[in-house]
Amino acid sequence: MNLTTILLTKESGYALIQFNRPEVLNAINMKLMEELVSALEELDKDGDTRCIILTGNEKAFAAGADIKEMAEASAMEMLQRDQFARWDRIRKIKKPIIAAVSGFALGGGCELAMTCDIILASESAKFGQPEITIGVIPGAGGTQRLTRAVGKYKAMEMVLTGAMITAEEAKQWGLVVKVVPNEYLVEEAKNLAKVIASKPPVAVRLAKEAVLKSFDTTIEGGLEFERKNFYMLFASEDQKEGMKAFVEKRKPEWKGK
Ligand code: CAA
Repeated sequence: MNLTTILLTKESGYALIQFNRPEVLNAINMKLMEELVSALEELDKDGDTRCIILTGNEKAFAAGADIKEMAEASAMEMLQRDQFARWDRIRKIKKPIIAAVSGFALGGGCELAMTCDIILASESAKFGQPEITIGVIPGAGGTQRLTRAVGKYKAMEMVLTGAMITAEEAKQWGLVVKVVPNEYLVEEAKNLAKVIASKPPVAVRLAKEAVLKSFDTTIEGGLEFERKNFYMLFASEDQKEGMKAFVEKRKPEWKGK
């Protein structure tokens, strides 16, 4: 694929995708989303890739959906474009995705980070849903994922005022798992990706699926789903190897099946 809005690097066990529209603070236009989704789907099928990192640059992870691309659109055009439907394809990616956020993660940028499975931030990161300040509301999951991540009252404040929060606040509120100095952000994300890549891939996949299930099911349905995934792993060679290696006090060798 000839990529123009993202850069893709593959390393042993993981891949790194960097948004590449620095002149507009990585504003997410339809082209970027199409390239991103296609790259993620390719990586999801790629046997060597076990974890994916999304990042921007020091100034911006992404400052939102591209306002200039939508400013003049009518409601009918927006409905026909249905540009945010494409974002649903990210939710279907089976491999873990880490967002490594520096600078602005606003609007669609914050929503994109929240679509990932783990968010790491640098000290300069700023998260926000400023759509209200331009006459709209979050349209790619912000009202739903932010509320689930930080609770109703903090989400409501952010969505109704458009105010940004710092990396440290995002961490205190449970949105971000770790805050690191700017220069270590990508290194930290790579270290995390390597740890995940070293785990048995089938168990990683089913673990991600089970955690995500908790967002759209009752506790009963979720527990049942988790239990079935747990039992299903006993059909994998990696479960036999993992438990045998524990008993024999040695390091397991994963086959990914
Ligand atoms: N869309 C299009 N262009 C954008 C953009 C966006 N979301 N954010 C920044 N840019 C562009 C600016 O227009 C500017 O381009 P020019 O040089 O051609 O003028 C360039 O990026 C640099 O931006 P600024 O000069 O504004 O940089 P700054 O440091 O002064 O301010 C900022 C940074 C506070 C992030 C400011 O750019 C800003 O407020 N951006 C918009 C944030 C926003 O409202 N995001 C929500 C978008 S709607 C959305 O995302 C809907 C959804 O739910 C999916």
